Amino acid sequence: MKQNAMKRTLALLLAGLLCLALFAACKKSETTDGTTAAPTDGSQPDSTEPAEAPYDYLVLVNKASKLPDDWEDIVVLEDAQNTIPEGVELNKDNEYLATDVFKVETKALAAFRAMQADLAEDGIIILLDSTYRSVARQEELWAEFEKDKGIEYCRQYVAVPGYSEHHTGLAIDVCLIKDGVIINDNDQMIAEKEIFGKIHERLADYGFILRYPEGKEDITGFSFEPWHFRYVGVEAAKDITAKGLTLEEYLLLSVVHPSDGQ
Ligand code: DAL
Ligand code: ZN
Repeated sequence: MKQNAMKRTLALLLAGLLCLALFAACKKSETTDGTTAAPTDGSQPDSTEPAEAPYDYLVLVNKASKLPDDWEDIVVLEDAQNTIPEGVELNKDNEYLATDVFKVETKALAAFRAMQADLAEDGIIILLDSTYRSVARQEELWAEFEKDKGIEYCRQYVAVPGYSEHHTGLAIDVCLIKDGVIINDNDQMIAEKEIFGKIHERLADYGFILRYPEGKEDITGFSFEPWHFRYVGVEAAKDITAKGLTLEEYLLLSVVHPSDGQ
C-alpha cells in the first residue's frame, strides 16, 4: 500500500515536470512581440499563418495623442529614394528630392510604389517629399516654419514634436511634377485641385487615407493638406473613405477593431 502511494506520487511529479518542460519549450518558440519564431530544425514556417506586424496600422497620433513610447523601437522602416524624370530641373531648394534617403514603413512603402506607378500611367507624377521624421527633425521643422511663416501657420500645418504622424513612418507627404516642373510649395499644391482630386480618388485602393481633409479641420486640428497621406491598410482605408470620416471619427465609431477579424 505504502509502495503504491509512493509510485503514484512519483508518477504525478514526473507528469508535472513534463508539463513544465513542454510549457517552457512553447514559450521559447515565441518572440517578444508574441509572434511565433521560425522553427530552428530547418523546417519551413506554416505559410498559412499571416505574418502580422507587431504594431497597429490604425495608430492614432494627433494633437491630443502622442506617439506610443515603444513605437520607434518596433516599427520597420525601409529606405527609399525618388527617381527624377529626365528633363526635370532641380534647384537648391528642391534638390533634396533627388538626394535625400526617405524612410517609410515597409507595407506603406510598397503600397505607395504601386499607387505611384498606377498614377504615372495616367501622366500624374508624384514624388516622396517627407516621410518618417524623428522628433528631433520635427523640432527643426517647427523652428524653420516658425521663422519663415510664424506661429499661427505652425499651429495649422506643423505638429508639435512628439505628436506628428510622421513619427510613425506611416505618413507620406508627396509633391508633384507638372509639365516638367516640381510643385512642392504648400500654397501651390493646394491650388492644384484637379490633379490632387484624381490622386485622392485612388488613395483607398492602396490603403491610404487623406488625413487632413477640407472641412474637417475642427476634428483633425490641422488645415487641409492635400499632400499628406496616411497608410492604414486597404480595408480600413476603403471603409473610412466610403463613410467620409477622419481617422479620429472612424476610431471613435469603431466598436470592433478590424484586427479582431469580426
Ligand atoms: N503636417 C503635419 C500635421 C505634421 O507636421 O505632422
Ligand atoms: Zn505630412
